[in-house]
Amino acid sequence: MQHKKLKDFPEGFLWGSASAAYQVEGAWDEDGKGASVWDTFVRIPGKTFKGTNGDVAVDHYHRFKEDVALMAEQGLKAYRFSIAWSRIFPHNMQEVNEKGLQFYDDLIDELLANQIEPVVTLYHWDIPQYLQDDYLGWESRQIIEDFTTYAETVFRRYGDRVNYWVSLNEQNIFISHGYLMATHPPAVKDPKRMYQANHHANVANAAAIKKYHSLGLQGKIGPSFAYSPGYPIDARPENVLAAENFDEMNAYFWMDVYAKGEYPSVIWNWLEENKLLPETLPEDFEVLKAGKPDFMGVNYYQTSTVAANPLDGVGIGTPNYSGEKGSTERGGTPGVFKEVLNPFVEKTNWDWDIDPVGLRIALRRINSRYGLPILITENGLGEYDKLEEGQIHDQYRIDYLNDHAKAVQEAITDGVTVLGYCTWSYTDLLSWLNGYQKRYGFVYVDRDEDSPKELKRYKKASYYWYKELIEQNGKNL
Ligand code: NOJ
Repeated sequence: MQHKKLKDFPEGFLWGSASAAYQVEGAWDEDGKGASVWDTFVRIPGKTFKGTNGDVAVDHYHRFKEDVALMAEQGLKAYRFSIAWSRIFPHNMQEVNEKGLQFYDDLIDELLANQIEPVVTLYHWDIPQYLQDDYLGWESRQIIEDFTTYAETVFRRYGDRVNYWVSLNEQNIFISHGYLMATHPPAVKDPKRMYQANHHANVANAAAIKKYHSLGLQGKIGPSFAYSPGYPIDARPENVLAAENFDEMNAYFWMDVYAKGEYPSVIWNWLEENKLLPETLPEDFEVLKAGKPDFMGVNYYQTSTVAANPLDGVGIGTPNYSGEKGSTERGGTPGVFKEVLNPFVEKTNWDWDIDPVGLRIALRRINSRYGLPILITENGLGEYDKLEEGQIHDQYRIDYLNDHAKAVQEAITDGVTVLGYCTWSYTDLLSWLNGYQKRYGFVYVDRDEDSPKELKRYKKASYYWYKELIEQNGKNL
């Protein structure tokens, strides 16, 4: 559908950028912080590229003022960051660490003083290690109460100043990588345990949202979901069905629960047939229905192209896994389909499909199915950037972001409500498993796996491109 003229981005559109605590902060044991599962996991030999960890990361903990000054100079409207749960409750769920709370107070105040809207993620994969040790973290029902306690603590502390909250970041990724592919902590390979942990995460997510709404605060809250819409490889009906299965299993299985408070029947029945149903209580579904989000947060990077799996139906609990494209950071939910190459799209040097049209499709599908406003909580390009005489010529990133921002404008013109667009990421940062060689930022940080060097910041070409885009509110796209 080609529009004669594209609509303008709305006034107050949140042109933002994002990060996550473990990937930028460093100061992993400072000011009373306790260990998270990532602090432990990265120390197991062979888990990450060259054994890289986030002990120092890009030292945002000590340099946040410098980073916010760069954002302010760029005119950034929103900065999405996450709170490290283990800074707030380092050793148990009874004692709050005032210094941890203070850090985020300072960061929020610094952003507000520079007219930058804080978008705060409650959970970006870093559950405190003691909760894993005490009761297996997400696998225990106790997590629902503990996550809600943590959430309420930060809602009460920052709720007067924070208007946008993200509850769980990419539940589909941390659950599938953590309990099925074993590439993230707790590195388990067990579909039964995965669906149980996932159910608790769903209820915890809804319970936190319900709590937020009950406090009478004026902001908006929603989860951020990693959405890679599925395409069939061709029009063979079995392949079209495989693409349906892909979306049911990788998208609606999660987003339906957020938006409607119920599991889609196709997948629920499949789980039952395969003896994978999680244990649930009737009151779980009351919480799921009562904790509906105000928006759907979407992390969009690429689409997935699938074909029917000839092994479909063979054996119980022997599903195929997506995420076999050489990437260590995506996919992982089981499915009766297989992922195949899409001959119509280019790939990044990290083997991710480049597909801006897919972003428009993603936004429209979410809009049609749920009718919720959408906040794009991540979109970006990971590359091996080069620092050359103090400059980084990342034209490839400009092209990528430009095409995706344009796709957002197309979707807005189609009638989708989009609250904002956060690129991933603001500064370069730790790529969980891939160290520091895979860069996403507008701001280059001079460090490598072996040495944090001086962590000097350099503005990339894309920094200036985004500055201009924000100034013009996207009119120059
Ligand atoms: C998803 C995650 O939220 C983020 O932590 C990760 O680094 C990026 N996408 C890139 O893979």
